[in-house]
Amino acid sequence: MNTETEIRIITHGSDEYREELELRNRILRIPLGLDVYKDDLSNEIMDIHIGAFSGGALTGVLVLTILNDHEIKMRQVAVDAELQGKGIGRKLVEFSEQMARDMGFPKMTMHARLEAIPFYEKLGYSKAGEQFTEVTIPHFKLEKTIA
Ligand SMILES: CC(C)(COP(=O)(O)OP(=O)(O)OC[C@H]1O[C@@H](n2cnc3c(N)ncnc32)[C@H](O)[C@@H]1OP(=O)(O)O)[C@@H](O)C(=O)NCCC(=O)NCCS
Repeated sequence: MNTETEIRIITHGSDEYREELELRNRILRIPLGLDVYKDDLSNEIMDIHIGAFSGGALTGVLVLTILNDHEIKMRQVAVDAELQGKGIGRKLVEFSEQMARDMGFPKMTMHARLEAIPFYEKLGYSKAGEQFTEVTIPHFKLEKTIA
């Protein structure tokens, strides 16, 4: 496979969006016994969907949700299991931060799974608040000033 990875926007409702949901389901929901298609996806048309494409195939995804004038939230960050640890997650996060910065948001936040926190800390994120449970597993709110 061509290992070059391109990061670009996915249009909501497109075939690529359907692939995005499949990847999110495979990496983030099925391992927890959950189903992405049972999530409330009705507001996703308002979100910014970002995909990593390696050799033309979708290999990673990240969704941005605008919370208010100051805060934009990163969510649903997932990289294909066979391609994790090769820098795709970092590329997705850096692309999303640049987009958020260009849009004028000073702060990126997220609800991060406990096991993924070292990944985000490497990219400059810090814990804000206490541990809580989401999709059955421990999470922390993380934040980063991006302005
Ligand atoms: C977490 C995830 C998005 C990271 O993406 P990735 O492509 O595997 O990560 P990268 O290869 O870009 O890693 C960047 C750096 O973080 C490190 N890293 C990645 N995942 C890590 C983890 N779980 N724990 C510790 N370090 C990690 C890498 O070793 C790398 O370090 P380096 O720069 O010193 O080489 C991906 O592994 C994934 O999809 N995991 C399963 C789903 C998940 O947990 N999503 C996050 C939900 S909040």
